[in-house]
Amino acid sequence: MKPKLVVGNWKMNKSFDDAQDLILDIQNALKDKRLQTEVILCPPLVYMELLTDIAEEEDSQFYAGAQNCSEHGAGAYTGEVSAEMLASMGVEFCIVGHSERRKYFGEDNTIVAQKVKILLDNDVVPIVCCGELLEERQQGIHAQVVEKQISEALFGLKPSDFERVIIAYEPVWAIGTGETATPAQAQEMHAFIRGLIEKKYGTEMAYNTYILYGGSCNPKNAVDLFMQSDVDGGLIGGASLKANDFVAIIEAGETVIKDN
Ligand code: PGA
Repeated sequence: MKPKLVVGNWKMNKSFDDAQDLILDIQNALKDKRLQTEVILCPPLVYMELLTDIAEEEDSQFYAGAQNCSEHGAGAYTGEVSAEMLASMGVEFCIVGHSERRKYFGEDNTIVAQKVKILLDNDVVPIVCCGELLEERQQGIHAQVVEKQISEALFGLKPSDFERVIIAYEPVWAIGTGETATPAQAQEMHAFIRGLIEKKYGTEMAYNTYILYGGSCNPKNAVDLFMQSDVDGGLIGGASLKANDFVAIIEAGETVIKDN
């Protein structure tokens, strides 16, 4: 099993002071633990420098990630932030295609593909989200929905670009609802996604690609989810806002690696 990866997506939460406290609490809690599990924090952009200041230090316990970027290069796009700006601040990762961006901001697979490309061009690793709505699962078309999202957003990439991408499977009905996919449901979809990658890019690429689970992952269910052979870690929303919960999820990643 590969070491796990745990990503905290703070969404639009926290004041400046609370953000600072949370970053320091996580840094201090992880400092002496020497964990194999990799950690990425994605705070709101206005707090990014708090994070990159620490992330650049030698004993940093996490990498800096953004929650979004523009699909455009520099120019007259009021209110937007470019991939190039993220890179210039030391941001190494960026979430793309989150279901909230798809729902509230019209981010479709074409825009996701454009964002992925511009991020890779700037050496920022995209964390690309996919996942079906509740009605799509009820209709039994969840696999087709995810296949379309992945193939339209990612399968135009050449292998040397695809190998730098992280995927997050987040069933929309599980995000922020307290209703988690069962470990079996998560494993089934992750294995399906890995199979798609294998068909397109080969076995080694499929094995190496990180596929995270997101959707009401918490300290209680993290071990069971992370134990699944195709679940390489988690994209954590609500539970990443409390240092204790988030660190417990990171430790769940560690427990699973030690036991395997
Ligand atoms: P949640 O959010 O953990 O609060 O369900 C996950 C996400 O949206 O990335």
